[in-house]
Parts: sequence; C-alpha cells; structure tokens
Amino acid sequence: MKRVRIALSIIIFVLVLLLSSTAAQGGKIRGRRRLPCKQMVFYFHDILYNGKNAKNATSAIVGAPAWGNRTAMAGQSNFGDLIIFDDPITMDNNLHSTPVGRAQGFYFYDRKDVYTAWMGFSFVFNSTQHKGSINFAGANPVLNKTRDISVIGGTGDFFMARGLATLMTDAFEDDVYFRLRTHVKLYECSESAIAGSDIASGLQSLPFLGGLGNISTGSFSNKELCSRCFSWDFWCTCVYFGVSTLLDATSSDSSKSEDEQKEAVSYIGGVLFLIFAVVTLIEIVN
Ligand SMILES: *[C@@H]1O[C@H](CO)[C@@H](O)[C@H](O)[C@H]1NC(C)=O
Ligand SMILES: *[C@@H]1O[C@H](CO)[C@@H](O)[C@H](O)[C@H]1NC(C)=O
Ligand SMILES: *[C@@H]1O[C@H](CO)[C@@H](O)[C@H](O)[C@H]1NC(C)=O
Ligand SMILES: *[C@@H]1O[C@H](CO)[C@@H](O)[C@H](O)[C@H]1NC(C)=O
Ligand SMILES: *[C@@H]1O[C@H](CO)[C@@H](O)[C@H](O)[C@H]1NC(C)=O
Repeated sequence: MKRVRIALSIIIFVLVLLLSSTAAQGGKIRGRRRLPCKQMVFYFHDILYNGKNAKNATSAIVGAPAWGNRTAMAGQSNFGDLIIFDDPITMDNNLHSTPVGRAQGFYFYDRKDVYTAWMGFSFVFNSTQHKGSINFAGANPVLNKTRDISVIGGTGDFFMARGLATLMTDAFEDDVYFRLRTHVKLYECSESAIAGSDIASGLQSLPFLGGLGNISTGSFSNKELCSRCFSWDFWCTCVYFGVSTLLDATSSDSSKSEDEQKEAVSYIGGVLFLIFAVVTLIEIVN
C-alpha cells in the first residue's frame, strides 16, 4: 500500500514538473522582466520655434542639413534636424497646468523615409512631490502609436532608476506643438523610489488580502506587502506576481495580454510544483 502511494506521488511530481516547465517556457519566465516597482504618467509639451513665436517657444532647431534652415523643418521626414528643448512637464494633458518639472534635452530626426527621431533627455524635478531627475535615451519612431524608450538612470528620488518609458503622441499641431504622454515604468528602484503601482487597486479587491487599508492611499513595496500577508516571502511573491500579472493581463487591453497570462500561469505553476514537491518528499520520508 505504501509503495503504491509513493509511486503515485512520483507520477504526480513528474506530471507537475512537465506541466510547469512547459508553462514556464510559454511565459518565457527566464530572463523576463518582473512587474515595475514604480509607475508614473507625465505629459510634456513642446512648442517649436518657427520664427514668430519666440516668446512661447520651448524648443528650437539648432542644427539643420545644408538644404534646410533653423526656422522650418527640412523636409524628407525632417532628416538631419536637431532640436533642443526645455519643455514643461504636467501631470495632466493641459499645457497650462502647473508644471511639476522640466523635460530637457534634444532629439534629432535620423531617417529620410520615415519620421523617426532619436531622443536623449532628462525629466528634472524640483517640487514637493519629486526631487531629482530621470534620464531617458532611445529611438522614437514617432508615427507608431506607442513606442518604448529606455530609462537609463536617475538622481535624487530616482537614484539608480532603470526601466522604460512608453511614449504616446497625445496631441500634434503642424510642426509647432506636440504633447507626449510618458508612462514611466521603473524595474529598478532605490528604496525611496518604491511606491504603489496601479496593481494595488486590483489587489485590493481580492478577499484574501483584505484589511490592508494602506494599499490604495499610502506607499508600499512588494516586499512589505508580502511580509504582511504571509511569513514565507518566496511563496507570497510567487502568488503575488501570479495573481497580479493575471489581473494586469485581464484588465489591460494591450496585445501583450496573452504573454502576461502565460507568465501568470508559469508563476502559479511554480507554486503548484513546489507544493507537490514537498508533499512527495513527505510521502517518501514516511
Ligand atoms: C503664447 O501663449 C499665450 C498663452 O497661451 C497665447 O495667448 C499667445 O497667443 C501665444 N503667443 C504666440 C506668439 O504664440
Ligand atoms: C526656411 O525654410 C522654409 C522652408 O523651406 C522657408 O519657407 C523659409 O522661408 C526659410 N526661412 C528662412 C529664414 O530662410
Ligand atoms: C528647487 O526649489 C527650491 C525652492 O523653490 C530652490 O530654492 C532651489 O534652488 C531649487 N533647486 C534647483 C536645483 O532648481
Ligand atoms: C512601428 O510601427 C510599424 C508599423 O506599424 C511596425 O512595423 C514597427 O515594428 C513598429 N516599431 C516599433 C519600434 O514599435
Ligand atoms: C498606514 O500607514 C500609516 C503610516 O505609515 C500607519 O501609521 C498606519 O497604521 C497604517 N494603517 C494600516 C491600516 O496599516
């Protein structure tokens, strides 16, 4: 009788092993990013100097190809134009809202057949909310609905920040004004930068995490959250990432949903695997 039970346990063990490894492959769990430790949305407003708006302009063409000039874009997808900017950053999409910082840097157009810019800039904050800077760099194929550029570092509140920012052209008026929605997602945060992500609101609806009154209002870290709901950090982290990724995937309208669901399955698969591994070990020892 005991032998039968051991044999059964081993079969279950192997089955779960197979299941969770295929799930892990599907979700590309190896080397894949985890969830962001901090997310923020900002807008910045670029008013390009066109020879008539010197008072309001926040950016200027400082370099143009031989066939262009510095008061108008050069044609051929603006190829060769180099622009320096010092743009106000706002929390909403209104140009006249109180700025929370400045977006400062440059972009240049580097393709003749398609509008594509390369950007290098910083968000410089000096407000009660944020102090410090976030540095961005990367290619910006401006015609795409959304495009990701790298967050390559930061200072102050954003010390050691790394991640990416999803840019979206929120408004565009001729060659004079554009507004970029910037969704900053940090995957590496210093302690002071760790604060609530938008997954918190989803988590709060889960009954087994009830009573965590501070999630929606205060800041918290993933680790804090875990130490509150379970004592065993690792299990909690697995369940947390599994559930939150699933929530994220089901609530988001992005095409990444399927990928994220697979990732969630692989997390949950990992937890199941561990449970069965322990159960099997106990059976064998007994
Ligand atoms: C500058 O901005 C102000 C306020 O938005 C606006 O009234 C004015 O017409 C602008 N001036 C120019 C030259 O665009
Ligand atoms: C700059 O180039 C544009 C377009 O080619 C032209 O309309 C404009 O007159 C030029 N401005 C100057 C100051 O040369
Ligand atoms: C930040 O703001 C404070 C208060 O307005 C000011 O004293 C300080 O010089 C500013 N720092 C920078 C780097 O602009
Ligand atoms: C931009 O859009 C084009 C066409 O829609 C697509 O082929 C390309 O992969 C996109 N590039 C990026 C970086 O998203
Ligand atoms: C929320 O956070 C504050 C300050 O960190 C703390 O004093 C309070 O007890 C917390 N409330 C709950 C319900 O955890």
